[in-house]
Amino acid sequence: MKALRTVADLRSELAPARRGGLRIGLVPTMGALHEGHLALVRAAKERASFVAVSIFVNPTQFGPNEDFAKYPRDLAGDLAKLASAHADLVFAPDGKAMYPEGEETRVRVGPLAASLCGPFRPGHFEGVATIVTKLFALTGPSVAVFGKKDYQQLAILRRIARDLFLPVEVVGHPIIREADGLAMSSRNAYLSADERKKALALSRGLGAAARAFAAGERRADVLRGLARTEVDAVATSVDYVDVVTADGLVPYAAGAPTGDRALLAIACRIGTTRLIDNVVLGEDPPPSP
Ligand code: PAJ
Repeated sequence: MKALRTVADLRSELAPARRGGLRIGLVPTMGALHEGHLALVRAAKERASFVAVSIFVNPTQFGPNEDFAKYPRDLAGDLAKLASAHADLVFAPDGKAMYPEGEETRVRVGPLAASLCGPFRPGHFEGVATIVTKLFALTGPSVAVFGKKDYQQLAILRRIARDLFLPVEVVGHPIIREADGLAMSSRNAYLSADERKKALALSRGLGAAARAFAAGERRADVLRGLARTEVDAVATSVDYVDVVTADGLVPYAAGAPTGDRALLAIACRIGTTRLIDNVVLGEDPPPSP
């Protein structure tokens, strides 16, 4: 399996599929692929007859002090994995191909970016929105699959497709976890053995809250507190442990009960590695064993 590097190559490779009336599926990634990514590819294969996967570490979604330079890159390994997941095409452009000299247009995101990761990563979702809109424009997918691991990203991309009348169905895929509960992430590669153990606090905290929710607890503060206790015990710093509405991502006011469905989401640092995880209370099974 080889990677296409330029927009021109992508267009010419997609042309026959489009002419043949094939339903195109798209799975955007930043590479360093793991089973979570491959699950998205398989889900796309079930919904489309021709699946394109993009691998691009998108500079505009990284802040100046974030890990753009050291983000793991392994194109050869990724191509082997994608061949075994039966991807039909891999697009791995360089920075200039996606952001040619003089380009300046950005996709601005609304209130969905106001909570959770938004305030901690200024410009991040604008960068995500812009690159995914470019990828949609280039590939013209009927369906695109994203992970619920990045729940806020998924919500924003759904909103973009709707607001801009993009003819693409945005599908959310459940979070793929290691056997011990840790959500798979390319950034898990940064963790030392000790940090890897500490990182289980995220799924353990979400699990405690999900079990309390299943037993009838609806006080947002209490649910948040159950997760927070686990995370506070090991995290270097905590960006947030928040309970928000599952669709609008609006935080519940102090003392307000959740409905029968709510998102509990965590972002924290274990050592220097920023990890995120979440559970949709009332919908997802508890994430820890
Ligand atoms: P990346 O972090 O590489 O993730 C690519 C896709 O894989 C995203 O939709 C993400 O939610 C999904 N994913 C990652 N880990 C997962 C897991 N454990 N289970 C299920 N899905 C998982 O997210 C991005 O890249 C970028 O922001 C991108 C959308 C490609 C835009 O640059």
